[in-house]
Amino acid sequence: MTPLTRVITKKDTNIKPIWLMRQAGRYLPEFRKIRKKNQNFVKLCLNTKEVKNITLQPIKRYDLDAAIIFSDILMVPFGLGQNVEFKKNFGPFLGPISLKDVKDFDQKSFKKKLDPVYKSICKVKKEKILKNKDLIGFVGGPWTILVYMLNRYSPKKKLEKIFSDKFLIKEMLKYINKYISLHIQSQIRSGANIIQIFDSWAGLVSDKNLEEYIYKPTKNLIKVTKSFKVPCICFPRNIKNYKEYTEIIKPDVINIDYNVNPNEIIKNIKIPIQGGMDPKVLLSSKKNIEKFTNYYLRVFENHPYIFNLGHGVLPQTDPNMIQYLIKLVRMFNERSS
Ligand code: CP3
Repeated sequence: MTPLTRVITKKDTNIKPIWLMRQAGRYLPEFRKIRKKNQNFVKLCLNTKEVKNITLQPIKRYDLDAAIIFSDILMVPFGLGQNVEFKKNFGPFLGPISLKDVKDFDQKSFKKKLDPVYKSICKVKKEKILKNKDLIGFVGGPWTILVYMLNRYSPKKKLEKIFSDKFLIKEMLKYINKYISLHIQSQIRSGANIIQIFDSWAGLVSDKNLEEYIYKPTKNLIKVTKSFKVPCICFPRNIKNYKEYTEIIKPDVINIDYNVNPNEIIKNIKIPIQGGMDPKVLLSSKKNIEKFTNYYLRVFENHPYIFNLGHGVLPQTDPNMIQYLIKLVRMFNERSS
């Protein structure tokens, strides 16, 4: 049994596994080298050879417990025929798409467009280096995908007026969910043995719309994932009430963001917890990294816990600090075993 599945299924508190969101990415010189030669990010995500290499880069460098397939949550809008670009110093920029476009799209074309993603997962899964490690597949939460599809770039302060059209949102969510669900199933069939749902813009939904926009569609995705006996980790970033979310959604693991007070959350949440530490801590001194890492490890000492951050590794992070972080987590594991 892998360290993550021990925590998730056995609720083992004697081991604190570690992996990091964005563990493959711009902070790694070996990633930047490949990225420089591949200016088109979507194309890079469809390049099976490079996706395999990038996914394994942090695993080769560090002693991590899981690999996450190198891809992006916006591959779903791409699979649905929407134009998706990543502009330097701006982030994602999407082309226009209508409800009709999504409604009329067919599953076969979707699967065909995303086939390289599934081929990459099959390739990575065969690697010996992943023995006793998990391969995490992922999707964006339906609401977050909808935000990108309609807003067409990362929201700045407030959502566009289009988000007051309840009918449009409900209809879009219905169709988007079908495709996210397909994407989950294909990733599992290709070899992903854990699924993480990134709902990065969950915090934008008001209380009165939570049921319709977040809870209902996400519950559906958990059901699909669980039907394969694959665990599901949910990350509803900046959501106000993590307790209510976990009680309603019932994920196998909840990833907390760095605004969550670990001492508070532990009183309210019984299921395994992942993450929490502010990725900015890794930009500071070793002493500070030690202070925060041990703080999270101690708070969750007697709770099933997977070490991770409260958001992705920042591009300006020194790779040696990641090495140091992993060493600290390993040392804690040795002390408590
Ligand atoms: O975690 C991993 O290592 C796996 C790969 C992964 C990427 N994106 C690669 C990526 C994962 C899990 C994601 C998830 C993702 N993508 C989210 C959810 C998590 C979060 O960050 O809130 C979101 C919102 C996106 C959409 C997205 N993709 C944005 C907003 C951006 C630009 C800003 C940024 O964070 O870089 C991306 C680009 C992106 N996705 C990069 C990587 C490595 C950077 C690409 C580059 O410029 O080289």
